[in-house]
Amino acid sequence: TRPITTICCIGAGYVGGPTMAMIAKKCPQISVTVVDISQPRIDAWNSSELPIYEPGLDEIVFECRGKNLFFSTDVEGAIRDCEMIFVSVNTPTKKTGLGKGKAADLTYWELAARTIAACSESDKIIVEKSTVPVRTAEAIEKVLQRNCPHDGVRFDILSNPEFLAEGTAIVDLDAPDRVLIGGKIENAKGQAAVDALVGVYSNWVPKENILTANLWSAELSKLAANAFLAQRISSINAMSALCEATGADVQQVSHAIGTDTRIGSKFLNASVGFGGSCFQKDILNLAYICECHGLPEVAEYWHSVVGMNDYQKSRFVKRMISAMFNTISGKKISMLGYAFKKDTGDTRESPAIDVGHGLIEDGAKLNIYDPKVAAAQIALDMGEEAMKSITCCKTHTESLTGAHAVCIMTEWDEFKTYDWEAIYGVMQKPAFVFDGRLILDHQKLKDIGFIVYALGKPLDPFLCSAEGAP
Ligand code: NAI
Repeated sequence: TRPITTICCIGAGYVGGPTMAMIAKKCPQISVTVVDISQPRIDAWNSSELPIYEPGLDEIVFECRGKNLFFSTDVEGAIRDCEMIFVSVNTPTKKTGLGKGKAADLTYWELAARTIAACSESDKIIVEKSTVPVRTAEAIEKVLQRNCPHDGVRFDILSNPEFLAEGTAIVDLDAPDRVLIGGKIENAKGQAAVDALVGVYSNWVPKENILTANLWSAELSKLAANAFLAQRISSINAMSALCEATGADVQQVSHAIGTDTRIGSKFLNASVGFGGSCFQKDILNLAYICECHGLPEVAEYWHSVVGMNDYQKSRFVKRMISAMFNTISGKKISMLGYAFKKDTGDTRESPAIDVGHGLIEDGAKLNIYDPKVAAAQIALDMGEEAMKSITCCKTHTESLTGAHAVCIMTEWDEFKTYDWEAIYGVMQKPAFVFDGRLILDHQKLKDIGFIVYALGKPLDPFLCSAEGAP
């Protein structure tokens, strides 16, 4: 097959931006154009202030932009002029209609497919980058074939799910554990399309790390991978509740089980819960697919992973309220961290949102500080009513001064480096620390005078008595 020289990517988000930047960097012979319907997003990609924060991303974009990496709102033009089209538009959970709250909303995907069909004057390889329900490629193929006004234009559809993690996207893209490409490998044209995409990745990914599969397996593998990852977090979080009840230490338990090579040590940190745009949505989608295929038991099994995550967040809020003498009404609570994980400014499905609402419902005043999240984003997530009880702070000191308690919502490294002795000095007494990420030195905090609640750790005697627990 002739190597690809022109690529277009529809959707300049957390996936489209970084993945295309990496292709441009690794393949100087390929011209890459990333398009989006959002003018502000494209303007930001063309400015010195990129729309997303991701360590190492700026350098790559600034190096390639204007050479073989372009950002544009000319969706039609980019589609017409390229050989291969990546589609990485958002696929959120449906908010209304059939499958509401469960199924993936493919509105954006379908719109993208219709635009591709209308503008394509030559053969295209379409690459599904978005996470989609199983057999989406089949539906998309129909939309493409039936809507293309030009005779003889051929569309080959591939599934190439993205496994990058936000916060480490550049490292993940530079050296992926594997690249997965699904296609119609049973026929020659389908195989040629797969080969063309393999050709792109093999500019930097070792051949043995490029896996090929049939379309449906590739689509399902992405949902399965996210379900398994989230399941590990919910499993260790379930253990954290049991640890608190029994006096075991969840970090000792996770270390002990993680050293078993069959289990492995990654993704075994207890926390206030998983967040991000993908885990919950993909599990709900997976469960919905199971339901639709008459597999309610399988659906229920995966659904419980989301249920455990909700339980962990509400358990954390209850613990905070009961520790603070069963009332937080009018109390100032400093929330350190708001993003769903460190090294990203992404707040989608962040546990801080539910925890924040839980605290405000009980009358608390929140001082939120996050190194990478803008006040406008917090206002958007929390809503007008809640914002009456929220102050967005520019520094951690501002957020902590006069606070009765501090809760750690994101595992930002900088929180570990703070002068906690000085912080104790500016807080109300008794001063509480609720560590939802297990990143602080709890013994040191106790020595300073803080009352400490750390998820899954033996409870501070003060907390036990406050709750009347044994
Ligand atoms: P995003 O919301 O950051 O970006 C999607 C972009 O697509 C938006 O800028 C939107 O304006 C644009 N868009 C929507 N419809 C369009 C259309 N018809 N034409 C042109 N542009 C259009 O979403 P994100 O996070 O990049 O996710 C994209 C997909 O990748 C989702 O399916 C997600 O599940 C999947 N994914 C996300 C990962 C993540 O870490 N965020 C990781 C792996 C997969």
